[in-house]
Amino acid sequence: MIKLIVLIFSLLYYVPCKANKNVVFIIGDDLKPALGSYGDLNAYTPNIDRLSSQSFVFTKAYAQHALCAPSRNSLLTSRRPDSLHLYDFYSYWRTIVGNFTTLPQYFKEHGYHTHSIGKIFHPGLSSNFSDDQPYSWSQNPFHPKTEAYKNAKVCQNSDGSLGKNLICPVVTEFQPDKTLPDLESFFFHKHHSFHKPHIPFKFPTEYLDYHPLDKITLPNIRVRDDIKKLNISFPYGPVTDDLLRQIKQSYYSSVTYIDDLIGQILEHINLNQTIVVLTGDHGWSIGEHGEFSKYSNFQEATGVPLIIHVPNLSKRKVTIESFVELVDIFPTLVDLTQVSAPLVKCPKNIKINTCTEGRSLLPIMLQTISSQRVTGKLAAFTQYPRPGPYPTMKPNSDKPHLSQIKIMGYTIIMKHFRYTEWVKFNTSNFIPDWNQTYGEELYALNIDPDENENIADRKEVANILKYMKKKLMSGWRYI
Ligand SMILES: *[C@@H]1O[C@H](CO)[C@@H](O)[C@H](O)[C@H]1NC(C)=O
Ligand SMILES: *[C@@H]1O[C@H](CO)[C@@H](O)[C@H](O)[C@H]1NC(C)=O
Ligand SMILES: *[C@@H]1O[C@H](CO)[C@@H](O)[C@H](O)[C@H]1NC(C)=O
Ligand SMILES: *[C@@H]1O[C@H](CO)[C@@H](O)[C@H](O)[C@H]1NC(C)=O
Ligand SMILES: *[C@@H]1O[C@H](CO)[C@@H](O)[C@H](O)[C@H]1NC(C)=O
Ligand SMILES: *[C@@H]1O[C@H](CO)[C@@H](O)[C@H](O)[C@H]1NC(C)=O
Ligand SMILES: *[C@@H]1O[C@H](CO)[C@@H](O)[C@H](O)[C@H]1NC(C)=O
Repeated sequence: MIKLIVLIFSLLYYVPCKANKNVVFIIGDDLKPALGSYGDLNAYTPNIDRLSSQSFVFTKAYAQHALCAPSRNSLLTSRRPDSLHLYDFYSYWRTIVGNFTTLPQYFKEHGYHTHSIGKIFHPGLSSNFSDDQPYSWSQNPFHPKTEAYKNAKVCQNSDGSLGKNLICPVVTEFQPDKTLPDLESFFFHKHHSFHKPHIPFKFPTEYLDYHPLDKITLPNIRVRDDIKKLNISFPYGPVTDDLLRQIKQSYYSSVTYIDDLIGQILEHINLNQTIVVLTGDHGWSIGEHGEFSKYSNFQEATGVPLIIHVPNLSKRKVTIESFVELVDIFPTLVDLTQVSAPLVKCPKNIKINTCTEGRSLLPIMLQTISSQRVTGKLAAFTQYPRPGPYPTMKPNSDKPHLSQIKIMGYTIIMKHFRYTEWVKFNTSNFIPDWNQTYGEELYALNIDPDENENIADRKEVANILKYMKKKLMSGWRYI
């Protein structure tokens, strides 16, 4: 489930602005901060850890939506899902809301050569079946041929037959074309791209060695053959501890596989001249809250790694604990490269093509390294839609289509609390009705970091809840 997408901007050398730098942007698919440099003891990620040791490492980075297409389009246009009207996979912003400029498009228009390898845009309608060509890229995006086998029956069962399994360690030479998509991208381009840990957890078996089952600690997969065979009832059937351990082992092995490829990429990059950004489109829940998926507003689904290496600013690991959001990446790269004046903040109720609904991170990076007071955001926002108040197979409550959406869950994450309100949502005008609430969730992160106990109805926190609700309703502009 983690796909690593590498997007490379390489600077056209004749651009006469000496502050310009090359940019390598790497996005893992479903990659949560399951990394050594984020203190995850299950992880084995020596290469990303080495990059982190000379980078800014943001410990509170959030996706604006825990689903690939809405999250990626949000990141790449620096607009929130409510501005793109995208909560599923089935619309293209240029056609339905506005001719908004993307991050790679902006760099292309300012003298960069932009190239996409693997999954940067989500494929399909949400990027007009073309990875937003001809707007975003200087040359046609590269997709590995073996992406075609993404959901094919290529995973070995214990009886030797092949299945469409969730847990799928493979011997690479027995795979179609004797390779895997991330390996194919990598070797094809010598130093660029990948596709894991997105499900299925298909990775070369040797990466299991880094993650022995007995070292794995315990914390919608049901369409996969191996899981289906277990007859686990939907939606509340329990997954056994054994299976949970194996799923977790596979997730971390997929991350190690990607880490290895990233290590090989980094060998080809001169970090003195290249900005490197490593992030994920959203996280993934490995059994937390009984879920094995993204599709929620919880920490595991919305928290992402964000590692930014900047030549001359990054001599050591610099940890930044302010809240940051994926919409911040576009304005940050504009400032770091000085490719133009800073992006303007998108005005309220007026559509302009080039603007940001995020905030450049350069000020807090500079404040942190010069030990000044850090004036970052005090909160992050994320959202997730549902077709009704209860889990359902039809419509699929994990991935409702736009026309099925009836409720929007809006979440604000602040230092001590996470607050979510589920409100009636009108998909004709895209306006939430804050007078019609289906549910509220409040978690005290100091004492309940795993967000297991909803305290929204407790009298003792009534004022906190009121405060969080007010901040949530006033939204990202006022944080
Ligand atoms: C959208 O923007 C692109 C790039 O600036 C431009 O080439 C194109 O003509 C615009 N399309 C419309 C419909 O305005
Ligand atoms: C989307 O792709 C179609 C088919 O290639 C093309 O005709 C259309 O102009 C594209 N949309 C935009 C907004 O560029
Ligand atoms: C699941 O159900 C099928 C068909 O009812 C049965 O043959 C199989 O043994 C069951 N599997 C388990 C693990 O209970
Ligand atoms: C990068 O810069 C450092 C110090 O400024 C220098 O020691 C090192 O050799 C440089 N590396 C490359 C690959 O240019
Ligand atoms: C890094 O700093 C050195 C010395 O101040 C300067 O010569 C060089 O151009 C800078 N490099 C970049 C990529 O900004
Ligand atoms: C949704 O918004 C549209 C357009 O503003 C309005 O006509 C419609 O009545 C609204 N639907 C509901 C259920 O409120
Ligand atoms: C919600 O209630 C407030 C105050 O009662 C009212 O002003 C507002 O129009 C209502 N909003 C909607 C969408 O009904």
